[in-house]
Amino acid sequence: MNERIIIFDTTLRDGEQSPGASLNVYEKLEIARQLAKLKVDVIEAGFPVSSPAQFEAVKRIADESEVIIAGLARAKEIDIKAVYNALRNAKKPRIHTFSSTSDIHILGKFGDSKYGASLEEKRKTILKMSYDSIAYAKTFCNDVEFSAEDAGRTDIGYLCDIIETAIEAGATTVNIPDTTGYTFPSEFGFKIAELKRRVRNIDKVIISVHCHNDLGLAVANSIIAIQNGARQVECTINGIGERAGNASLEEIVMALKVRNDICNYYTDIDITEIYNTSRMVSGFTGIVVQPNKAIVGENAFAHESGIHQDGMLKNKQTYEIMTPESVGVNKTKIILGRHSGRHGLKSRLGELGYHPSEEDMQKVYEAFLELADKKKEVFDDDLRVLMGDEIYKKEELYELQYLHVTAGTDTIPTATIKIRSNEKVIQESCTGDGPVDACFNAIERALEIRPTVESYNVRSVTSGRQALGEAIVRIRNGENSFTGRGTSTDIIEASAKAYLQAINQYLLFTKTNLEFHEDELIIRNV
Ligand code: KIV
Ligand code: ZN
Repeated sequence: MNERIIIFDTTLRDGEQSPGASLNVYEKLEIARQLAKLKVDVIEAGFPVSSPAQFEAVKRIADESEVIIAGLARAKEIDIKAVYNALRNAKKPRIHTFSSTSDIHILGKFGDSKYGASLEEKRKTILKMSYDSIAYAKTFCNDVEFSAEDAGRTDIGYLCDIIETAIEAGATTVNIPDTTGYTFPSEFGFKIAELKRRVRNIDKVIISVHCHNDLGLAVANSIIAIQNGARQVECTINGIGERAGNASLEEIVMALKVRNDICNYYTDIDITEIYNTSRMVSGFTGIVVQPNKAIVGENAFAHESGIHQDGMLKNKQTYEIMTPESVGVNKTKIILGRHSGRHGLKSRLGELGYHPSEEDMQKVYEAFLELADKKKEVFDDDLRVLMGDEIYKKEELYELQYLHVTAGTDTIPTATIKIRSNEKVIQESCTGDGPVDACFNAIERALEIRPTVESYNVRSVTSGRQALGEAIVRIRNGENSFTGRGTSTDIIEASAKAYLQAINQYLLFTKTNLEFHEDELIIRNV
């Protein structure tokens, strides 16, 4: 009998925890709308207590969404209250709370003697904290999920105890995360089977799994868990997430679809929206999809060798286990140009998952005409970049107004920049090892800031010599990293824009603060 698997998407929460992948509220709203179009069952929209921007984004998504919206909370009243406040208007709210359960986590994170003198005592404290937090969450909403953090490395006896406690407290979904991506499929499958066998009332709740990809086993672990009784999988688009990422949504969904003959489960995902969703998430997060990534990578359906091409021409099934069209690649091939008109542009954007307001549409149309003047043909990927740049442009404190660069084989590369803020215009010049370095130095001198550049990448968005160039820069300042993206037909300008955007992200991050007053969450500018 074919059984349904619940798809819990955590792109906007765990996915956003990928280094440097900060999304603004408009980008999160568009991704949430696209996830709804993809027909995921649950959207984990964020971790409301962690920052004002997180709170705001979860709230805005919950206010408009028809899908179940989950918010994450530690086992603390302040976190749970923040989730409740953010989900107040949600049609289908879910509070997702978690506690650490492995010995390594308990001893590392709950070392203080106030949690107990021995491991045994600390375990008891965590059982009680988990019970209390679930019971507290239940006073706000019936749909409560509990996660046993680092369940993959948790002693099975204690894991059974804590999951039983969570069910007694009222959890409706119990999640078994392999937080560090350490577990082998055989072990993980056994763990789920043991929980099913040993935990009282386990059949009254949904067993969920949440697998990380540190050993490249996240999807395999999710599937073996399904085969042993899990009915919800937590995953992200393109597999983005902490460190090596989370289980990839598109890989789990397509594995269940393509191998339904031996794995008799289905999801409600509209697979033809997979490619659009992947491109949107990649564009907004600045995390480029590796070319050989299964399902959505650029080469996933490319056949290079002569033998393969010959086989494909004779019968596609020789080397293709699913068609590109089935996941939305090459679904339609509409190419726009100067004469396409506003209506044609708007309708194509809608098909790609973007919904600009009437006011924003004017800006997009003007940018589109400018681009169509430079390039004869405007492709879907150009439009995706345009949307990222023009409409959802991250809030900016500083804007690049002017850039002049000299470089060549016998010159010292020199850049002059003019940067504008609300209050002033700053002009600076600097030399560097190359034109990009000279630009970065000039920006640093103008803003009197010198972050560490963690990564810098340039690529062309579409093919051909008129292609748009996209630069992505990741910077680090202290504990946090920030990503900036810039596009232009001139890659030096794209690089300067990207660097300035990353610095803007950092400066905005340090400008806001979160406080609680009489249980209400207050967001302050500092
Ligand atoms: O990886 C993890 O354990 C998590 C939990 C908070 C579910 O992300
Ligand atoms: Zn996780």
